[in-house]
Amino acid sequence: MLGAVKKHMKVLMFTGKGGVGKSTCASAVAKGLAKRYRVLLISTDYQPSLSNILKVDARGRKVSLGNLDVLELDEEITRELWRERFGEEVFRIISSFLDVGREVIDYIAEAPSIPEQFSLAMILWELPNYDYVVWDTSPVGGTLRLIRIEKEFYEHLGQAASLYLRVRGALDRMRRGGEDPLNILNRWRKLAEDIFEMLRGQTTSYVITTPEDLPLREAVRAVRELKSFGIDVRGVIVNQVMSQDVLSARLELQRRKLKEAMKLFDRVVTIPMYPEVTEEELNLMFERLTTFI
Ligand SMILES: Nc1ncnc2c1ncn2[C@@H]1O[C@H](COP(=O)(O)OP(=O)(O)OP(=O)(O)O)[C@@H](O)[C@H]1O
Ligand SMILES: [Mg+2]
Repeated sequence: MLGAVKKHMKVLMFTGKGGVGKSTCASAVAKGLAKRYRVLLISTDYQPSLSNILKVDARGRKVSLGNLDVLELDEEITRELWRERFGEEVFRIISSFLDVGREVIDYIAEAPSIPEQFSLAMILWELPNYDYVVWDTSPVGGTLRLIRIEKEFYEHLGQAASLYLRVRGALDRMRRGGEDPLNILNRWRKLAEDIFEMLRGQTTSYVITTPEDLPLREAVRAVRELKSFGIDVRGVIVNQVMSQDVLSARLELQRRKLKEAMKLFDRVVTIPMYPEVTEEELNLMFERLTTFI
């Protein structure tokens, strides 16, 4: 058993390879905890799935199910919120040394990794409102990248602040009133630091895998990386372990869904579930797919 979560661990993060059951496990845990606690179930995966699992539309807006709030962050909404929260500050900093207009805000808002970086800040800001925040992540690579970006962002801000200090004398002469951009940079640095503190001090992670080769390898990698970031790993969940009764029920469901797929799409090729995919199976798959290629 995985054991009880330590009291100060408020963020429960679910990570793992694509399709192993992160959203399903996160939903199950969030619903269960919501019987006794105030819980936010939040997804930073821009492919919506919580909405499908819980049969609500929580894309880009919070939906309340009693004690449980559900929110699926979506890229556009996250950029928009970023613009509202940071747009003016960005303009303030950049316009203090470059002759630019407000369109620079839109330019920066479109930068890659802005929504990802901001979604971690959203979790931090939501934290005080809940007993637990259950965090359904995007597949391993994306989430680890997200945490890495946060770290780089933090280091980058440090450099920005020292660079700024060096040219400050000259800039003082051109500055057109308002808040010292250095304060803004320092506030951003503090935010990145707080996010790290949340990840290291208040977050516990569950790595999900299925009993299969690739998900298992990803799980090993995820556990190693999470630990290297200083994030607590509570345990590994091996999901979708098959037993005979599941197998026949699943078979029945598969038959129905296969029929449905045949009706839904013009061109369908089926590929069997192999016990294992080796060189031989890859050849077999290719043969089946040749009609498509
Ligand atoms: N224990 C289980 N038994 C049967 N089906 C399961 C189980 N866990 C998850 N599934 C099914 O597996 C599929 C993938 O699950 P889920 O969406 O939770 O995975 P995910 O890791 O969040 O995927 P993604 O990486 O796409 O976000 C879904 O169809 C879900 O219903
Ligand atoms: Mg998911």
